This record gives sequence, structure tokens and C-alpha cells, in this order.
Amino acid sequence: MTNLKASTGPQFARIMAVGSATPSRVIPNEFLLQYIDSSDEWITQRTGIKERRWIAEDENITTLSLDAARSAIERSGIAADQIDAVILSTISHYHQTPALAPQLATELGIPDAAAYDISAACAGFSYGLAQAESLVRSGQARHVLLIAGETISEITDLTDRGTAFLFGDGAGAVIVGPSETNGIGPVVWGSDGSQAGAIWQTRGWQEAVAEGTWPKLGMDGRAVFKWATGFIAQAAKKCLDEAGITADELDVFIPHQANDRITDTLLRYLKLPENVVVARTIRQLGNNSAATIPMAMDALLTSGEAKSGQTALIIGFGAGLVYAGQVIILP
Ligand code: UT7
Repeated sequence: MTNLKASTGPQFARIMAVGSATPSRVIPNEFLLQYIDSSDEWITQRTGIKERRWIAEDENITTLSLDAARSAIERSGIAADQIDAVILSTISHYHQTPALAPQLATELGIPDAAAYDISAACAGFSYGLAQAESLVRSGQARHVLLIAGETISEITDLTDRGTAFLFGDGAGAVIVGPSETNGIGPVVWGSDGSQAGAIWQTRGWQEAVAEGTWPKLGMDGRAVFKWATGFIAQAAKKCLDEAGITADELDVFIPHQANDRITDTLLRYLKLPENVVVARTIRQLGNNSAATIPMAMDALLTSGEAKSGQTALIIGFGAGLVYAGQVIILP
């Protein structure tokens, strides 16, 4: 039998740089009280959220994704033509086809890149990172630009007491490239399709067209909360085990920002030392779906709370249900 050549690549990969973009409209809890029977006190106590950012008229998923990507590329120091693949993780792009990633790649001046969108909701960054790491280590791409961009405000039902206050818009991006030492631990990921009804799009395209309505996001908050504080806590521990480190060796924890109380429960379960820096961007940004983790990563590095070279545990979970996490070395 003919023996085909196989691609080979560097032994290790790492995140070389991160960038993010937040939209300009600040939406405080009070703004939402015109639509739902709630209070600033309830939203703050039950979730940690004080405000979130939503897109203004001149902003959209493309502008946010491009801003985040440009920042990551610039900080990485590589030229656009050294990027071989562009992955966009999103659940809020309007078009099922064509994917947005090829247009972003062209707009960014990246020639002839493999470019595609993935849909893994709030786990989308870690799903994409697992793919990017594999593409680099297998030699199928020298560098990968991974963007997570979301405008969940456009699919939020402002009259739904269970979701109206949760989500914000934004984008985060990273460049993944070759490394002398390992910067991305093994991914721990999975799905449970029997829980498809826990977070869902309220109408499929056919129903939406027939009704002349716009699909929105629905959620069984209690079910997701229970899953996140039980199963996901165990998955987070597995990320540490798979990377071969203990809680004492961790510097930074960046869980998906879905609820401060979920983060608190994960912290207790993992028994993380007091000095571990914990992302709490939900307070100012809400839940940004796939974009949450890279946005939080950039915020912690920019503020100086976290430092380049530190170990960080990231884990995302959401609609599918799907989850994914890994230990990384911060860029
Ligand atoms: O990113 C995707 C992953 N998503 C998540 O991880 C979300 C997970 N779920 C959650 O974060 C929480 O379930 C929510 C924040 C969405 C809701 O909080 P909760 O503590 O689970 O609320 P609940 O639905 O159990 O309701 C508790 C009480 C009820 O009142 P009673 O029956 O105890 O008198 C609700 O009527 O809070 C009431 N309530 C509200 N009150 C004021 C429910 N929604 C609201 C509201 N404002 N918006």
C-alpha cells in the first residue's frame, strides 16, 4: 500500500498573545428593570452582575471580533501571513452560512487561511483552543488565530426574568503558536445532548420565519446551575490532574463567568489557595458566552492582577450541554 506523507509539527504549543474588545454601551442593572420585575439587589446578590456592555449602533460581531483579533496579532509580534488558520467561536453570528471566519481573515489581511466557525456556546473558547493546539502540534498550521465573538444582546429576550440580566457582548482572541515548553495542557471536554433543552434557541429558523419572530435564548437556570456546581466542578479538577499539577501550583483561575455563586462553589470544591487570582469579570461584563474567558484573561493581564508565565485553569460550560477546560500558561 502507498505510504502517504503525514504532517509533523513542533512538540509543544502555547498562547502567544491575547486581545479583547468590549462594546461601548454600559447597561446597568437599573436599565433592565423597565422590562422585568426584578431589582439591582436581587441581580447583584444572585449573580454578582452590576452592569454589562452591549453593542451600540455602529458595533457588531464583526467589528468586535476584528478589534480583538488585531490586538492579539499586534501583541504576538507575528505577521499576518504567518497565520495559517482562523477559527471563530460564536453562537450569535446571523448567518449559518457562510461562516464569518473567512471574512474576518480577509479583512485582517491573512492570505489564504483555513477559516471556519465553531458553535460550542460558552465552552467555545476552550473547544477552539483544543483545536488550535492540535493544529499547531500536528504541523497543519504554523500559527492559529482563535477568536471568540458574541453579541448575545441581540438574541436576549428582555422580558425573560431568567435571562434578561445575564448576558453581555464582546470578543476575545488569541494567537496559538509553537513553543519550546508546553503552554496548553490536555483538554478535558465533553457533551450531554440529552440536556439540549437546558439552554436553547427558542425558535428554529423555520418556526421563526413562519411566525415572523426573532429567535431568542431560553434557559433552565436551575438545571444549569446544578450541573455547573456538580459535574463541572469535577471536570475542573480533572483539568488540573491531566496537566499534572496540584491546586497549590495554580496561580490564576478563569472559570466561565456565568454566576459568581458558581465560581464560589468551584473554588470551594477545588480547594484553591487564597493567593490564587480569580476572574470576576461578570460584575462589569456579565456573561459573554464564548468570549468570556479570553476577555477575562486579557482584563487580568492588563490590570496586572495576573502575569505572563503564570499557570491558569480555564473552564467553560454552556448550551449543548457542552463543556471544555484546560490548564494554560498565560501569554
Ligand atoms: O452561560 C451559560 C450557563 N448559564 C449558567 O450557568 C446560568 C446558571 N443559572 C443561574 O445562574 C441562576 O439559576 C439564575 C441567576 C439564572 C437564577 O437564579 P436562581 O437563584 O437559580 O433563581 P431561581 O430561578 O431559583 O428563583 C429564585 C427566586 C424565585 O422566587 P421564590 O419562588 O423563591 O419566591 C424567583 O421567582 O428568585 C425569583 N426570581 C427573580 N427575582 C428577581 C427569578 N428571577 C428573578 C429576577 N429578579 N430576575
